[in-house]
Amino acid sequence: SNLTLNYSKCNAFIKKHEIDNMIETAKNAQDMLKKGNGAGKDFLGWVNLPCNYDKEEFDRIKKAANKIQANSEVLVVIGIGGSYLGARAVIEALSNNFTNFMSKNENKFPKIIFAGNSISSTYLSELVEFLQDKEFSINVISKSGTTTEPAIAFRIIREVLLNKYTKEEAKDRIFVTTDRQKGALKNFADDEGYETFVVPDDVGGRYSVLTAVGLLPIAVAGMNIDELISGAKKAKDEFEKDDVFKNDALMYAIHRNILYRKGKAVEILVNYEPQMMYFNEWFKQLYGESEGKDQRGIFPASVVFSTDLHSMGQFIQDGNRNIFETVISISSPRKDITLKKEEQDLDGLNYLEGKTVDFVNKKAMQATLLAHIDGGVPNLVLNIEKLDEFNLGYMIYFFEYACGISGYINNVNPFDQEGVEDYKKNMFALLGKKGYEDKKTELEKRLNE
Ligand code: PA5
Repeated sequence: SNLTLNYSKCNAFIKKHEIDNMIETAKNAQDMLKKGNGAGKDFLGWVNLPCNYDKEEFDRIKKAANKIQANSEVLVVIGIGGSYLGARAVIEALSNNFTNFMSKNENKFPKIIFAGNSISSTYLSELVEFLQDKEFSINVISKSGTTTEPAIAFRIIREVLLNKYTKEEAKDRIFVTTDRQKGALKNFADDEGYETFVVPDDVGGRYSVLTAVGLLPIAVAGMNIDELISGAKKAKDEFEKDDVFKNDALMYAIHRNILYRKGKAVEILVNYEPQMMYFNEWFKQLYGESEGKDQRGIFPASVVFSTDLHSMGQFIQDGNRNIFETVISISSPRKDITLKKEEQDLDGLNYLEGKTVDFVNKKAMQATLLAHIDGGVPNLVLNIEKLDEFNLGYMIYFFEYACGISGYINNVNPFDQEGVEDYKKNMFALLGKKGYEDKKTELEKRLNE
C-alpha cells in the first residue's frame, strides 16, 4: 500500500479492548460518510471527487495552466484558508526548495506567489513593487466571493495588472475560482469576461484542494494533476473497505479519539522535510476547523523536525503531558547526499563516512520517537513511500477521510465552521460596514473600557 499507519508506538498507551470498544462507533461513522446521512451531509462532495469530478472543467484547467505557463513569469494566487492552503501544501511539497529563487532557465514554470491570506500592508505593497516589471497572471479563489482578505488583495493586484495590460489582455490573465452561480466574484467575472472555475456547493474550503481551487495553481506549477487525482482515487477505494483493522483511515481516527479521551488534547503533526511545512498548515486547518467546536476537540499543532527539536523539543519531551504525535515518515527522499571521509576529522563526523544525510535524518526520527514515547508522548507513524503527486493525493484523501470519521466519532459536525464568522462580524462593525452600526457602538465602548 502507498501509505501505512504504524500504531505500535502507541501500544504502551492504548489497550486492545479500547480499540475493540470503538470499532462499532467508527463503523457507524464510516456508514454515515458512505450513505451521506450524518451531520453536514450537504458538504460531502469531496468524498466522491476523485471519481466524480467535472472532466470538461478538468481539461479547461489544464488549458488555462498552459496559457499561464506560456505568458507569465509569476502567478499570483489570491485566497485564504481553504482557498489557498491545499494548493500551497502540494506545490511546496513537490517543488524544488529553491524554485522561487531560480531563473527561467533553471525553472521553466511560473513562480507561484500567494496573496490575500493576510491583511499585511507591507506584504501587499512589496508584492505590488515586485510585480511592476514581471509578466504575471492572477488566480483569485473565493467560494463565497466576499471574503475581505482576498477581496482587498484582488482589488489592489488587479489594478497593477490593468495598468500593465489592456482590458482584452486581462481576460487572458485573470482566472476566477468561485461559486458556480452566486457571489460578488462570480458577478464580477461575468461582467468583465474572466474565465471562471467552480468551487462545488457541496465541498467546503478545507476539503477543496482536489477541485479547481487547488488544481489550477498546482497545474501551473508544473505538477501532474492526473496523478494527484489517481492517488486520491486509490485511497478512496481503500478506505471505503469494511475491515476496520485493515483500514488505516479508520484506525487513525480510532487511535486519536482514544488518546483524546484520556487527556491527550493536542495532536502534533510531525514532518522531517521542510517542504512539508505547508502540508502541516493544511492539516491544521482541516482538523482544527472540522473538530474544534461545541467546546471540544483535539487541538492540531505541527512541527518540522529536526528544526523544532531545537525549539519545541523540550516541551514535547518533558512539558505538559497532554500531547500525542503523528509522524509522517517518507521512505525515499527526492534527493540524497553521501557523507565523505575527510583526512583530518576536525568536525568529528568521520564515523558517518558512507552514510547519507537521509540516513541521519531517519536515525534522528527513530531516536526522537523512542525518546518521546519514554517521555509519555504516544506516537502514530504514517509511512509513505515518497513525495510525488500520486502519494500526496493518496495522503490528502487519507487525512480528509479520517477527519470526517473522527469528527463523527466525537459527535460533532465536521463540515461546518460557524466559529469563523464571529471575528468577521466584529471586524465589519469596527470598519463601519453598512448594517453593523449598533454593533460598532457596542464594540467601541468595550474597546475603550
Ligand atoms: O474552510 C473554510 O471554510 C475557510 O477557511 C474558507 O476557506 C476561507 O474562509 C475562505 O473562504 P472563501 O473561499 O469563501 O473566500
